Amino acid sequence: MEQFKGQPRLPKFAVPKRYDIRLKPDLSACNFAGLVSIDLDIVAGTKFIVLNAAELSVASDSVSFTHRGFSKVYMLRPSNIDLVENDEILVLEFAETLPIGIGVLTIGFEGTLNDKMKGFYRSTYEHDGEKKNMAVTQFEPADARRCFPCWDEPACKATFKITILDVPSELVALSNMPIIEEKVDGHLKTVSYQESPIMSTYLVAVVVGLFDYVEDHTSDGVKVRVYCQVGKANQGKFALGVAVRTLELYKNYFAMRYTLPKLDMVAIPDFANGAMENYGLVTYRETELLYDDQHSAASNKQWVVIVVAHELAHQWFGNLVTMEWWTHLWLNEGFATWVSYLATDSLFPEWNIWTQFLDELTEGLKLDGLAESHPIEVEINHVAETNEIFDAISYRKGASVIRMLQSYLGAECFQRSLASYIEKYACSNAKTEDLWAILEEGSGEPVKKLMNLWTKQKGYPVVSVKVKENKLVFEQSQFLSSGSHADGQWIIPITLCCGSYDMHKNFLLQTKSKTLDIKEFLGDKTDATSAWIKLNVDQTGFYRVKYDEDLAARLRYAIENKFLSATDRFGILNDSFALCMARQQSLCTLLTLMGAYREEPEYTVLSDLISMSHKVATIAADATPELLDYVKQFFISLFQYSAEKLGWEPKHGENHLDAMLRGEILTALAVFGHELTLNEANRRFLEFLDDRNTPLLPPDLRKAAYVAVMQRVTSSNRLGYESLLRVYRETDLSEEKARVLSSLASSPDPKIILEALNFLLSFEVRSQDAVCGLPVSREGRETAWTWLKDNWEHIFKTWGFGNLITHFVSAIVSPFTSFEKAREIEEFFASRTEPSMARTLRQSMERVSVNANWVLSVQKEEHLANTVKELAQRN
Ligand code: BES
Ligand code: ZN
Repeated sequence: MEQFKGQPRLPKFAVPKRYDIRLKPDLSACNFAGLVSIDLDIVAGTKFIVLNAAELSVASDSVSFTHRGFSKVYMLRPSNIDLVENDEILVLEFAETLPIGIGVLTIGFEGTLNDKMKGFYRSTYEHDGEKKNMAVTQFEPADARRCFPCWDEPACKATFKITILDVPSELVALSNMPIIEEKVDGHLKTVSYQESPIMSTYLVAVVVGLFDYVEDHTSDGVKVRVYCQVGKANQGKFALGVAVRTLELYKNYFAMRYTLPKLDMVAIPDFANGAMENYGLVTYRETELLYDDQHSAASNKQWVVIVVAHELAHQWFGNLVTMEWWTHLWLNEGFATWVSYLATDSLFPEWNIWTQFLDELTEGLKLDGLAESHPIEVEINHVAETNEIFDAISYRKGASVIRMLQSYLGAECFQRSLASYIEKYACSNAKTEDLWAILEEGSGEPVKKLMNLWTKQKGYPVVSVKVKENKLVFEQSQFLSSGSHADGQWIIPITLCCGSYDMHKNFLLQTKSKTLDIKEFLGDKTDATSAWIKLNVDQTGFYRVKYDEDLAARLRYAIENKFLSATDRFGILNDSFALCMARQQSLCTLLTLMGAYREEPEYTVLSDLISMSHKVATIAADATPELLDYVKQFFISLFQYSAEKLGWEPKHGENHLDAMLRGEILTALAVFGHELTLNEANRRFLEFLDDRNTPLLPPDLRKAAYVAVMQRVTSSNRLGYESLLRVYRETDLSEEKARVLSSLASSPDPKIILEALNFLLSFEVRSQDAVCGLPVSREGRETAWTWLKDNWEHIFKTWGFGNLITHFVSAIVSPFTSFEKAREIEEFFASRTEPSMARTLRQSMERVSVNANWVLSVQKEEHLANTVKELAQRN
């Protein structure tokens, strides 16, 4: 018995083949009863059956193991049943050794429909003014065990035959497979579903509630439905169209059809994550699935496409071919992230979505620049560690290294190999190295040797490049945001262009450094002493580049003269920002470079420039408060060019990116205190209060207006705050609620911030939404920290069960910029760390110390005052 405790994985004496699950949820009492019969293959002589179960009560007389002898069926009862809650396992001990071969394990159990948004849980909604419950499952990573006893590991695939018993007959009851029978008995019904193909437990799903739906089908007859709250079916139409087209696209791309007869997508009012790819029954937060013509912003529309494309990618990558263990989670998430861009680009080519992929790249680089990062392939020794790895490393770095490899191997070869991979591992499990083996075979390139360095090792390199006589000298070293030294080394696919995009060269940097004769590859056509040289062309590589002064000046010139592509302009700026934070470059240099982007037209580049400017302003406010006004003035002048070009009025039929840009630019101007923007925003907001459909405040402008309103709210002038709360209370669109929440704490008044934070804890805010309201203004950061400490017990109790708690920690801790604060935070958490947030806390603490060092080095910069003043005055 003891030997089974404290183990990361279940023993493999018994292999589940088929589950027959009968669930009887009681939506008013919020509990459920169940009976599961599992066909087991006993593969080793054992007296024990060990499987997962948690928060379930098992009636001992309901447990039996039956197997067939020569002429009769034997039924065994366990001599001992032990539910070990700590390890989430159920240990059944039998008096005799179980016979090798097939048998059936039957277990009866009961549980609670919990409020934790995991396992089998309750979500609430209103219908005809009445509050109602629905029953929903969320099993990934390891919560199927909270719904029925099972082998809850991704490699233990089996088929599932599900029956839902005795639910009110007017409700919709959904599961992974189509319904085969619905038996109505009075006002209750029992619904049974077809048996599924073999799949992992974390993909099993059930939803029972009141819904409307819209329906369509693919050209080969897959029935697709979007289920929403009664009355909101119209809002599901956009996602429905996207899903149908995406399924057809993936069928071609993966050279394999979607394997189930139907695909349902359901909007769930209380949902811990964004969406979940359950096989054939994908669940979503309302904001990720619903699109309202009148009230949704362009960014929300784009988000719906990305999320639907992501979850549908999992139907192949994840559901059909599943990772062997959580160490390979990135195969699921990195791929789905990458493929979602491929699909979005194909559906909406005018969005230029690949330039926005650079946000994924940047977020990956940011997290992986911390010493407290982790390798893509990360060891998982306890289930509690699993939630935390659904992070920027698995998703964004994962997606980025895939893109890097694809661009190195070529799109066609890559796609062909992926299709072979899907075919070879369909209905089974794969590890990272299995994918490399297939890509290696398909390309003839040393994929495994190359990629192991990127997935088994954390971090990434910065490539320094300088000109020396007629030579280019490259040198790699590990990049850390802290500026400290580490000795990682990589094989880096280097690409570079010189003077024009026609003049390019590619090679693998396999050593620490390398010298290249410029003439050798450029001939005499390009003037190597003055032409711009850009490495990491199109930013397909997962690394940073540091140019020497001469090369950096040439690039600045090329940016000002519009010689470079948007992706390259993005990369140069983002690398420079990171180098500045790591104190390898002065703030003067960064600000001067930012000045070269005055006429920048591209959404993605400007959006990144905006986030940088907020960070720089925070650092400046702490390092050199006397310069803050100049810094703000500089940023205002930088954004004014686009602000004037775009104006407040959306142009008829304008481009999607301009619509998003307008909102972000105006929001930034509002935050930096630009008077004209604040006045105009407040004026439009008043109109909006009178008429929620006023053309003066279309959805794309609302965030800017809300933030602008909050800039002028103080404890003696609360009207704007109260009005926003009214908007929150009066809308039934989740997106609108989230928009208001994310604006409330942008007020510069700490008293208001405290009110806004307390509002997040009130019954009026669903616990899924509270995290939207966490980023607070710099002026409110101290208040937020005190609030977190004062309410920690409650916060941990409400959000500590999944990964939402990590948002509380990182949003509130990371903005600090002093060592003193770091010590205080460390002390507070010393007695409160939990395995589910340990890594996030360490990362947030490291961010504080990176900030603190940055502040100190900015204070030492000699020419900063002059540079800032000069930039602020140049218009
Ligand atoms: N498989 C995840 C859902 C998930 C996340 C389960 C974390 C357990 C823990 C799903 O495919 C996913 O990645 N959802 C994202 C949205 C996506 C578009 C980035 C999410 O929930 O944020
Ligand atoms: Zn995913």
